[in-house]
Amino acid sequence: MSPVTCLVAPLLLLIATTSVPGQAKAADVSRIIGGEFAGPGQFPHQVSLQLKGRHHCGGSLISDTMIVTAAHCTKDQNPSQMKAIVGTNDLSAGNGQVLGLSQFIIHPQYNPQSQDFDMSLIRLSSPVPIGGAVKTIQLAEADSNYAADTMATISGFGAINQNLQLPNRLKYAQVQLWSRDYCNSQNIPGLTDRMVCAGHPSGQVSSCQGDSGGPLTVEGKLFGVVSWGFGCGAKGRPAMYTYVGALRSWIKQNANV
Ligand code: ARG
Repeated sequence: MSPVTCLVAPLLLLIATTSVPGQAKAADVSRIIGGEFAGPGQFPHQVSLQLKGRHHCGGSLISDTMIVTAAHCTKDQNPSQMKAIVGTNDLSAGNGQVLGLSQFIIHPQYNPQSQDFDMSLIRLSSPVPIGGAVKTIQLAEADSNYAADTMATISGFGAINQNLQLPNRLKYAQVQLWSRDYCNSQNIPGLTDRMVCAGHPSGQVSSCQGDSGGPLTVEGKLFGVVSWGFGCGAKGRPAMYTYVGALRSWIKQNANV
């Protein structure tokens, strides 16, 4: 089986529960993707996309009517079967706002095989009030670039260990932007100009299943969207993020942001 993991949370969870018997050891929780649990209001742009009432993917609020996420999160889905939850760091607390969705705008060049152009916009059924624990995030500029090893922040409700256990609570972590040359030299096949790769020197900090579609920010701006990887947090293995700078004008045209 291919080591590439780009499946969304519930599907992977199924595979995990059938192929990885046994309980997550306590040590796995901090070992696999690392980072920390977020406090209330710490990531006010963070979205949980729910499919039939279960966490499915992440997303980022970019205006009071638009969310950006990964194309693989909305592909073959119907907006009427999905909802967005905003304004909470704990999905089991019931204090988030549940938003209806009216439209998915998948990037027309999205390629499900290569994950090139892995971006989708989501239009909300009605505008969400901005304020308190719900805020929009600014997008990185077109073609914006940072030096290798610049620190970036990832956040998500995705899996926190190898058993792909979903925590319900929002986590975040710091990772480094790695250069295209470095990632190519690590035998990452198919890294395109619409992707950036990021990792952690220890290999023990990473995005994972269920984080897809969620934010990677640099200097408080949305620079990447969680897209794919090889397992979660293997040493020397980066994760791949859709590069917002490459798709900035498409976002502008379609979301007017
Ligand atoms: N594509 C996956 C998702 O749907 C997760 C992407 C991150 N994967 C990784 N191994 N870093 O949630």
